[in-house]
Amino acid sequence: MTILDGRKTSNDIKNEIKAEVDKMKANGEKVPHLAAVIVGNDGASLTYVGSKVRACERVGFDSTLVKMPNTTSEVELLDKIDELNNDPEIDGFIVQLPLPKQIDTQKVLLAVNADKDVDGFHPTNFGKMALDMSTFIPATPFGILELLDRYKVETDGKHTVIIGRSHIVGRPMSILMGRKGFPGNSTVTLTHSHTKNITQITSQADIIISALGVPGFLKAEMVKDDAVIIDVGITRVPDDSEKGYYITGDVDFENVSKKASFITPVPGGVGPMTIAMLLKNTLLARERHRLAKK
Ligand code: GUN
Repeated sequence: MTILDGRKTSNDIKNEIKAEVDKMKANGEKVPHLAAVIVGNDGASLTYVGSKVRACERVGFDSTLVKMPNTTSEVELLDKIDELNNDPEIDGFIVQLPLPKQIDTQKVLLAVNADKDVDGFHPTNFGKMALDMSTFIPATPFGILELLDRYKVETDGKHTVIIGRSHIVGRPMSILMGRKGFPGNSTVTLTHSHTKNITQITSQADIIISALGVPGFLKAEMVKDDAVIIDVGITRVPDDSEKGYYITGDVDFENVSKKASFITPVPGGVGPMTIAMLLKNTLLARERHRLAKK
């Protein structure tokens, strides 16, 4: 069994990006600038956004954190997005999800300039992804592809079962794993809350990608020998520790890892990859903006 080490791989990618940024600086070029917008005080979201900004500093990017109160109206957020769309300093930006109830997420995602949409959530970019066109691939699915690629995990002709159809992970992952090429060329089954007899499906899978958010959902008896297991779940479970919680995934790691050929841990698997790939998309955005100005 091989652990797919997201922490190490993410560090390798950040070092590669830093080397690119160092070259830009040496040539007197503008370095990539990422902005992150967060609305409200959700603890997990604040942690994620903080990690994204710190990662920018680590690779030498410029970064801007825009914090807006929980009471922010849709119009106020749309105004801020307009400002970021029109700011030539900003190469890419993200609006951290979920948003407070009074704000229509679809409206917000549509308002982001597709050329600065480094999350890859705009319908234009999502459509390009589905049509194999060059675009920003959403960071978590992109991170999973990168892990499969760097560890040379065979996906060609394999049966990939995805658990969860979220717009951020499950849905894009189902498209990407079925695309031509590597990683890809898989036969994909997308399962969700209305799927009947899920064990019958997961137990035939060569690769399982679980993005459900239910701790310990995937048990050893649901998995065949030598399956590849990708755990995207990140759930905070309250405990008596100083932090007040611990982080766990969708997979019963202790037992499933005994059967798996490759498996991602939680924490330290897919999570760190998401941040590395957001940086990669921001680097790509800078490169596109540079070429567009020539
Ligand atoms: N919330 C959970 N994951 C993500 C992500 O990748 N991007 C944004 N913007 N919000 C998220």
